[in-house]
Amino acid sequence: MRGRVNFNTKKVVLGGIKDYINEIRRCRRLILIACGTSYHSAVATRQLLEELSELPVMVELASDFLDRSTPVFRDDVCIFISQSGETADTILALRYCKQRGALIVGFTNTVGSSISRESHCGVHINAGPEIGVASTKAYTSQFLALVLFGLVLSEDSISKQSRREDIIDGLQKLPELIKEVLTCDQKIRDFAENLYQKSSLLVMGRGFNFATCLEGALKVKELTYMHSEGILAGELKHGPLAMVDDTMPIVMIIMDDPVKTKCMNAYSQVQARGGQPVLICNNDDEELIKLARRYIAVPRTVDCLQGILCVVPMQLLSFHIAVLRGYDVDCPRNLAKSVTVA
Ligand code: AGP
Repeated sequence: MRGRVNFNTKKVVLGGIKDYINEIRRCRRLILIACGTSYHSAVATRQLLEELSELPVMVELASDFLDRSTPVFRDDVCIFISQSGETADTILALRYCKQRGALIVGFTNTVGSSISRESHCGVHINAGPEIGVASTKAYTSQFLALVLFGLVLSEDSISKQSRREDIIDGLQKLPELIKEVLTCDQKIRDFAENLYQKSSLLVMGRGFNFATCLEGALKVKELTYMHSEGILAGELKHGPLAMVDDTMPIVMIIMDDPVKTKCMNAYSQVQARGGQPVLICNNDDEELIKLARRYIAVPRTVDCLQGILCVVPMQLLSFHIAVLRGYDVDCPRNLAKSVTVA
């Protein structure tokens, strides 16, 4: 955020795209394309981008996007998100869209990477070098960069002014709040002690935190080699509920936001089948804390930024489970930091 967000004037400047903003605002739709964790950052910010830009926003996995030969037009804006800037599927999707005349915007963490060079314009994520194979700070920084993008797109909208100001105030407080989340580390380690010998972990949530579930489950899979699934709580009754019993380890993310009532319904359904989820909830949600047997409480922020705080306990949980299982958290088996083959 440093150098980009002025917290006094509530202005956001993204130098790498400022000459293209009008063209982006006039587009037919925004298409966010990426793989793995980078894809999850797109899922995490889609709702906010739709709200702030009032444009249709598509979110695509690069490999699937190419398999489908998806129609792309000259008035589309295609956004490629990549930590390394060298992911083969993402680069191939970029070239596919470029050939069809779309505007190409790169969000990468690597200055001079293929994606940053082949884009018409872009935003550097500025997370610093990420060495561990599992993406963590790149995820939260991609999330943030996309939020800033939404703020820039909505700058001229009077009706969105107060929402924008709330988000910018929320951004200012984020570093302190993340430090607060990190103080839960010992409690999270204790949960890991109970979980590390299990064979599966389900992570459930919805709304702004569906992406947190997908990303949390991916961290568990790649670091601990344990089966893990991120489940949209609204889909529970359509299949996943069959897996729930008193032996199934479950984490549920229930924030005090517009989908809380729906999440609470899912919580009741899980409990009725004997499930005893660990909740990730707001630290001032006394009603929920009273109900929960086991919980990790995170500070409250603006609904659309809450996922940045909620993902940290999941990152720590997978780290501790992996260490307890005796695995190398920096270099998980079978994976490479940069996937340069399609
Ligand atoms: C996640 O921890 C992985 N490292 C992986 O999913 C990664 O996000 C994916 O391979 C995409 O990489 P990129 O961001 O460098 O394009």
